[in-house]
Amino acid sequence: MLIHSAIPDLRAALKARGRIVFVPTMGNLHAGHISLMEQARAHGDTVVASIFVNRLQFGPNEDFDKYPRTFQADCDKLVAAGVDVLFAPTETDLYPEPQEYVIEPPGIQNILDGEFRPGHFRGVATVVTKLFNCVQPDAAVFGKKDYQQLMVIRNMTRQLALPIEIIGGETVRADDGLALSSRNGYLSDAERAEAPRLFRLLQEMRQAVLKGNTDFRGLEKAAVEALTVAGWKTDYIAIREQANLAEATGRDTPLVILAASRLGKTRLIDNLEI
Ligand code: PAF
Repeated sequence: MLIHSAIPDLRAALKARGRIVFVPTMGNLHAGHISLMEQARAHGDTVVASIFVNRLQFGPNEDFDKYPRTFQADCDKLVAAGVDVLFAPTETDLYPEPQEYVIEPPGIQNILDGEFRPGHFRGVATVVTKLFNCVQPDAAVFGKKDYQQLMVIRNMTRQLALPIEIIGGETVRADDGLALSSRNGYLSDAERAEAPRLFRLLQEMRQAVLKGNTDFRGLEKAAVEALTVAGWKTDYIAIREQANLAEATGRDTPLVILAASRLGKTRLIDNLEI
């Protein structure tokens, strides 16, 4: 696997490489990331991964400094997954001067996760655009676990006519249902045992909706209460329309349940399509 940190070196290495499929990450790779790499392999000739912990998408009180950085272990996993090229820029490579020109997503950046993480999706859209410009891929793979992020990137790519196919990768879960996430490593043993409750609740809500319950606000409230009783602090549990994440009002369009809740100091997100 070739590893480049400087943008000109990366561009030179990616000349005449056929169809390039790109998987951007912030490192601390787990089986969920590796499944995205495998999906990338099935969609093109050259798989490019990136590792960059993007300061722009972290709020001032978030975990930028303590975000796990495990570069050597990540490289071993990428080699084993057959990744061809790793782009691993330093902050100076990617942000040699303050990043004043940014991508400002529309209203979708202020709902759900965006309401609780102001500026987060601006930071994501900006770095993803910059990474796209560095790698110039034909396709890029993003996990469906970050459902709202995937929608922001899909919409941005379409509206800016970027010539890149956006592919959504299914969420990978532990045997007990917990969605794999780099942040799961922050959980204590007791919190890790409690964490699958979130997905169980999403499954129960989905079952209720499939059985005909359309009291969506009632279902959301009951789920928040169940988490609160179990010691969680919930940002949101919301039944939304898949197409635009608008509040769901009926069953005539595909729906998705999205959730973000804190267990101790760890904020977990998850979602389930109906
Ligand atoms: O999903 C992530 O890991 C990040 O948000 C991304 C897409 C790599 C941008 O920093």
